[in-house]
Amino acid sequence: MVSAGVDVGSVATKVVILDGRRTVLAREVSPTGPHGDRIARELFQRALRESGLSEGDVCATVATGYGRRRVDFASQVVTEISACAKGLRWSVESSGASCLAIDLGGQDTKVILLSPDGSVEDFVMNDKCAAGTGKFLEVMAASLQVKLDDLPMLARKARQPVRINSTCTVFAESEVISLLSEGRSVEDIVAGLHLSIAERIAAMAMGFGRQETVYFCGGGAKNEGLRTALAEKLGAKVVVPDQPQFVNALGAAIIALEEISQGGG
Ligand SMILES: Nc1ncnc2c1ncn2[C@@H]1O[C@H](COP(=O)(O)OP(=O)(O)OP(=O)(O)O)[C@@H](O)[C@H]1O
Ligand SMILES: [Mg+2]
Repeated sequence: MVSAGVDVGSVATKVVILDGRRTVLAREVSPTGPHGDRIARELFQRALRESGLSEGDVCATVATGYGRRRVDFASQVVTEISACAKGLRWSVESSGASCLAIDLGGQDTKVILLSPDGSVEDFVMNDKCAAGTGKFLEVMAASLQVKLDDLPMLARKARQPVRINSTCTVFAESEVISLLSEGRSVEDIVAGLHLSIAERIAAMAMGFGRQETVYFCGGGAKNEGLRTALAEKLGAKVVVPDQPQFVNALGAAIIALEEISQGGG
C-alpha cells in the first residue's frame, strides 16, 4: 500500500511518497513557478523513480497548498491547515496535550492550535501581506545581496540587532537600504529582520495563550536564526520537526493512506 502527498505551495512544490507503515520512500521539492500543475506531475514522477515504483502502485494521492486544485492526478484535496495538523502530529511526539504549530511558508504564515488527537482546534492565518512570511525574508536577502542559507550565520554575528519599524515589506525594504546607508552592518540588519518576523508571528500566536513548546514548520523553519528569534519573542521552546518544509506534503500522504484504509483508494 503506497500513497502520495503533493503540496503545491506559492513558492515551492513538495511531494512525499509513503508506504503503508508510513515510511517515507521519497521526497522531492522544486520551485512552483507559473506552472504548478506541470511541476507537481514532474516531481511525482521523479519521486516514483526514486522509490522504484510506477504510477499504478500508488493507491491514493492527496493534494494540498495553494495550487492543490490544479493537481489532476489527486484523488482528494485538503487545506494546508488539515495537512499541517496531520503531518505535524505524526512528526513530533505527542505530549497528550493541545499544542501550537507555526507553518511559515513563502506567502503566508499559519498558527494552528492542535488538539491532543491531532485535529485542528483553531487557527489564524496571515495571508493578506508578505510581512512575516518567507517572501519577506527573500526580498530582504535580495536587497542585502546575501543568500537565504547565509542568514542564520549572519544573524549569529550581530552585535546590536537593529529595530525594523516598517510593517510593510515594500517600506521595510526602503528602511533596510536607509540603515545600510547609515552604516549599520548587514549582520545587525539580518538579526533585526528575524526579530521583526518573529514579533509578527508572536502577535498572531498571542491569542492562543502562553505555550511552553511551539512546533515550527514550513520552509521558514529551515532558518535557524528565525527559530532563535521566535523562541525569544514567544518565550517558548521552539521545536522544528525533521524535514520541516515537507510536513504538509507528509500530512497529505498520511490522509491518503487513511483514505485507502477506509476503502476510498
Ligand atoms: N534554506 C533555507 N533557509 C531559509 N529559508 C528558506 C530556505 N529554503 C526555503 N526557505 C524559505 O521557505 C519559504 C518556502 O517555504 P514553503 O515551501 O513552506 O512555502 P510554500 O508552501 O510554497 O508557501 P505557502 O505555504 O505560503 O503557499 C521560502 O519563501 C524561503 O523564505
Ligand atoms: Mg505551504
